[in-house]
Formats: sequence, structure tokens, C-alpha cells
Amino acid sequence: MTERATDDRQDGPSADVIVLGSGLAGLTTALALAPLRVLLVTKTPTLYGGSSLLAQGGIAACVAEDDSPAEHAADTVVAGAGLCDAEVAAGVTEEGPEAVGFLERHGVVFDCDATGRLLLGMEGAHGRHRILHAGGDAAGRHLMAALAKAVQDAEHITVHDSTMAVDLALGEGPLRGLWAVGPDAVCRLFRSPAVVLAPGGSGALWPATSNPPEATADGLAMAARQGALLADLEFAQFHPTTLLTGPAAAGRLPLLSEALRGAGALLVDGDGHRFMLDEHPLAELAPRDVVARAVWRRRQRGEDIRLDLRPALAKRGADGFPQAVAACRAAGFDPFAETVPVTPALHYHMGGVLTDAQGRSSLPGLWACGEVATTGLHGANRLASNSLLEAVVFGRRVAEDILSSERRDALESSLPAPELAPPGCAGPCLELQSALRAVMGQALGVERAAPELDAVIAELQVLQDRLPAPGQESGDAAEIRTWLETRNMLLAARLVAQAALRREESRGAHFRRDYPMTRESWSRHISLTLSDLTASNEGPPLYAAG
Ligand code: SIN
Repeated sequence: MTERATDDRQDGPSADVIVLGSGLAGLTTALALAPLRVLLVTKTPTLYGGSSLLAQGGIAACVAEDDSPAEHAADTVVAGAGLCDAEVAAGVTEEGPEAVGFLERHGVVFDCDATGRLLLGMEGAHGRHRILHAGGDAAGRHLMAALAKAVQDAEHITVHDSTMAVDLALGEGPLRGLWAVGPDAVCRLFRSPAVVLAPGGSGALWPATSNPPEATADGLAMAARQGALLADLEFAQFHPTTLLTGPAAAGRLPLLSEALRGAGALLVDGDGHRFMLDEHPLAELAPRDVVARAVWRRRQRGEDIRLDLRPALAKRGADGFPQAVAACRAAGFDPFAETVPVTPALHYHMGGVLTDAQGRSSLPGLWACGEVATTGLHGANRLASNSLLEAVVFGRRVAEDILSSERRDALESSLPAPELAPPGCAGPCLELQSALRAVMGQALGVERAAPELDAVIAELQVLQDRLPAPGQESGDAAEIRTWLETRNMLLAARLVAQAALRREESRGAHFRRDYPMTRESWSRHISLTLSDLTASNEGPPLYAAG
């Protein structure tokens, strides 16, 4: 057990900029901030973690002669179902080739054919082959390995891994940095006038997800506690084809990339019927929400829905999809000889911290990029493989904006350290997390409706009330992290549920059984702040005024 300091502060390191998170967005931002001094804070034990690492699809960018940024932007806007910011979509797709160049300069090698031409894949709702891969479906691993090495070699970046962010240090004055707990379980103030949130998404809120367990909505909750504007929280994208590794499989399920369907893999029901032909002219390559609902509804009726990888494997070979083949084999399936069972699982949260086109949040001194941010690119439904592109483009934009802003020094401060998890709280917190995932699965899955949403909002409040109260003493680092993650998940879940209840229509990834049509009057964003949780007992952030 760690005796928490009762004095008014434990000073940590200081720098020009703090970047929270070590996915593609965080690493890109940190690299692009040179020569400013950067503290890169991440809760994972190495730089080799997070959702980016698991990305299979690759990065969408218009690099083919027969393609154009305008076409890529148009596909993005159609997928976004009326809620994309057309200017952001135009800008990001225009910057696609430059983003690819940035990655190549940092050591990423994209897959080419025998003549040296880039191999470009196809995915759902793209009008052209424009997805660059690296190592077949191991794109995330290849990108992250290259960027992690570049970060380790960069003199301007100091990495603090195994370090869990607690809260933004924001008192009455300007932002002073970030409270974070290191492996020694001590909460320190990491001081900087500029903080970039890039800690990833929220997949761990759902019972089945393609995300890693660390996707606990930390950035969303931290920004919310300080009153930042959040938007589009109701839009959570379900990937139609994760591998059902067992009859009651839950938690992180292996992704079977849409690139497989782009290369010919087929969805079939128990009779071997290719049911997507009945659902949409684009069949297996229909927009992701359409495919996810088609699979989900059949599974609800007890049907065994399967993906036949064989046409894709025949075309690209096992080398084209090493991760999919390995995942199938690990689960006891031979994808060369049989179809494999699939289910939709939470894949990407379009909602998050609202930013402008430079990645600035509504709080001065706070930027956001990557999955935690809502930049306007994805709207109600992200186009496949646009998120790695967004991570690089916005990571660089954020860095550029900070580099061109007036420089301020980190403020000396005398802020009281936040209170943390009481000893012995890990067990109760893990139970709360399981209960939270169960209610999210019931009410905030592929289809939603008011009665379930009302019930889940009440239930989440009950769970919130059961969160162990912070105390004068705290447990070890793992226990503190579990408590902080639980607190973040509870807050994020309550905000997501509120937004989903408010949007009385179906659009993009948000399908309301009680409002199955898209309504013109809802062609607008829902933005929320902490104060919108009217029945909240969240109270002020752990660190309030300083
Ligand atoms: C996939 O590989 O199917 C996922 C790609 C993405 O979500 O962008």
C-alpha cells in the first residue's frame, strides 16, 4: 500500500508540450513537434500498444493515378451520412499523399507488387482501390514499429510509459499540465502549458470489441470532467466481422478485416446463402453499418453467420492476411478449408472531444487527435481506413498549430494532488466494469430504443454510485489504474447513453428501432458537456480550482 503524500503537490517533470497516448496520433504528434521538448505519457508498458497496433485495414489515401482527393472526400462524406464537415474531408484527403510520405520518411514500407507499384486495396463504401497496406493485414504493427523506433531515437521526446493519466491540471488560470500516476503509484504533476490528448477510444465500454482492453475512454472522460465540449458521442461503429472465437466469446475479438471482403471474402448464412446480395447493391462492401445490422439481426434470430475467407486467400495468399489466418487458426478454424463464424463488435467511436480544423479543443491549451477527437472527418459513420489517415494528418496539424502558437513556459504551481483509489478497490471496480459492459451491450449495441436507453441511464447511475470513493491512502499502481479506468468508463458511458437517447432518428452508425428513419431535422450534431448529465453525482473534477 502506498501512503499518498498529504502535502500540496508532488512535482513531476516539465516540458513545452505533453502528449498523452502512444497510438499513431500520439506518436505522430510527438515526432512532428520537434524541436519542442515533449513528454510522451502512456499507460501501456511499451510504445507498442493501443488500437493502432491492431489496425488491419491500412491507410486510405489517394495515391493512384485514376483517383483524386475529391473522390476520396466524396466517399467520406457519403459514408458520414450528412454529418461530415465537407471542408475537413476535403483537406484531410488532399493531405493523404503527404501523410503517406511522412510515414515513409519515418521508415514505413508499404506493400508493392512485383513491379514496385503500391498495392492498393478496396474496402466498403470506397469508390476506388485506395487502401495502402504494410505487411498485408498487419498494417498497424508495421506502422507502429516504425514510428515507435523513430520516437525512441528522437532527442526531443521523453517517454513516460506505464503512467496513467488522472486529470488535466486546470484551475482558475490556464492549463498547467496533467496529473499522472507512474509505476511507483505516486501522483505527480507533469507540467506544461500545452497538452495533446491522443489516448484512443472507448471500445472497452462494450462487451465485444475489436479494441484492446486499454481503450477505456480516458481522454474523453478527462476532457469532460473539465467541461470540454464533446460531440457525436452516439455514433459508435460496429465492425461486422470479428471472429467469434467461442459460443459466448466476449472482450476483445480478433478482427477479420474488411480488406478480406474487399478481396472477395463472402458472408453466408447457415444454408450457405450469400445474404448481403438481398440487403444492398454493394453486397459485402455495403457501408459498414448496413453490413453490421444485417449480420446482427440474423444472429439475433439464432442464425450462424459465417465469413468465407477462401476467395480472398486464393487471390492474395496467406501472406496477404497473416493476422486473419493466425487468428482463425488460434481459434481452431482452418480458413483455407472452412467458413468461420463472425459477429459484429464495437470497433471505432466517431464521437469524442470536439476540435476545430487544427485539433484545438474548447479548452485553451488542450488539443485532441486520433480516436478521442471529433474533428468532423467521420460524421455519423467513419469510412474504412480513414482513421489512420486522420491520425497522421491531425497529429501533424496539431503539432504545426502548437509550433506556431505563442510559446508559454510551464507554470510553477502549488496545486493539491488529486485523491486516488482506496486500497482494496480493484475487485469491486472490475465488477463494476463487467456490469457496465453488460448494460452497454443491452442498450447501446447495433440497435437502440428509448425504453432500453432510459433503463441504461438509470442503471449506469446506480453503478456510478457504487464507485469506491477516493481516500487518504491509495493502493498500488495497478489498483489505482483500475479505479481511474472504471471512473472514466462510467462517465463516458453515461455521456454516450445521453447522446443516444437524444438523437431520435437513425443515421449512420446510430440505429434507433423506435425511429428507424433518418430525419432532416436531425442533420446536426449533438454536443454535450459534463453539465448535461442532469442526474449526475459526478461532482466537480477531482482537481477543481487551483
Ligand atoms: C478493417 O480492417 O476492416 C478495419 C479498417 C478500419 O476500420 O478502418
